[in-house]
Amino acid sequence: MARRVVLDCDTGTDDAIAIMLAAARPELDLVAVTAVWGNHAVEHTADNSRRVLDLIGRTDVPVYAGRGAPVDPPPGVPAPRGSAEPDTLPLPPPTQQVEAQDAVEWLVETARAATEPFTLVPTGSLSNVAAAIAADPSFVEAIDELVVMGGVIERGGSLPDVETNVGYDPEAAQLVLDAGFERLVLVPLDATYRAIVTSEQRATLRPLGRAASVAAGFIEQRIASYRTLPAMNGRAAAPVHDALTIAYLVDPTLVTLSAATVRVHTGDSPTRGRTDITLGTGEVQVAVDADADRFFDLVRESLAQL
Ligand code: BDR
Ligand code: CA
Repeated sequence: MARRVVLDCDTGTDDAIAIMLAAARPELDLVAVTAVWGNHAVEHTADNSRRVLDLIGRTDVPVYAGRGAPVDPPPGVPAPRGSAEPDTLPLPPPTQQVEAQDAVEWLVETARAATEPFTLVPTGSLSNVAAAIAADPSFVEAIDELVVMGGVIERGGSLPDVETNVGYDPEAAQLVLDAGFERLVLVPLDATYRAIVTSEQRATLRPLGRAASVAAGFIEQRIASYRTLPAMNGRAAAPVHDALTIAYLVDPTLVTLSAATVRVHTGDSPTRGRTDITLGTGEVQVAVDADADRFFDLVRESLAQL
């Protein structure tokens, strides 16, 4: 039976590809998309999510809009800036409305009513998930696995010190880490930067159909903005961060996991948003590596199904 998955995302280009993969895979049953602020305002992330689902003919997947701001920011800390990408994905306006119900309410109600657990995959700020836990701490019991794209292990190298999903709402991230999920997998930048997609790989997607061609365009856009970053070392390539969470669900052997303890720098500290990740023991499973070639094979094979 296909695994029931809810994607909680701030749709921009990499979340968009995560949605496509989740919808494409027969192993997964994409129950709903819940939109959160992050890359863009929540109105845009909900609208973008709908656009992607329209593109792939999955108007049956409902989209709920949730939190538009951090859950409990300290006073005086400026609101984080979103992505430099345009707010709206270059796709036709959606044919379906975003659901009237609030995403956090829907998450809490769905968890309460669930007779079988479901898998939740947050790939934006953790504000929706934290709000759901705050509304009902037993929310965590309905989730068999929480797979979060967020955080960064390495510091002082070529990766940013603060990963944006955690950095957008550090208090929410810490609350989620402390909430007692049965299994919490964190996919940090260290893993997503190991699974970069090159310009040559991207070119092989174009002939595979409309959705794959759109994904190829998104990846090209990402390569254009990443190629000058030190982490790319001059290569025409880019991470597609959020898609790695779905690839992991389909084939957990694509990433290497390590038990870890994770602490988020919160409050008005100058290091706000950083993650201290200590590998070895702990309640969180952190992806420390990823197989780039097998990741891309899975992306290509999945997009070809759409
Ligand atoms: C994460 O931040 C967002 O911009 C991306 O969509 C991804 O989820 C990477 O740090
Ligand atoms: Ca995202």
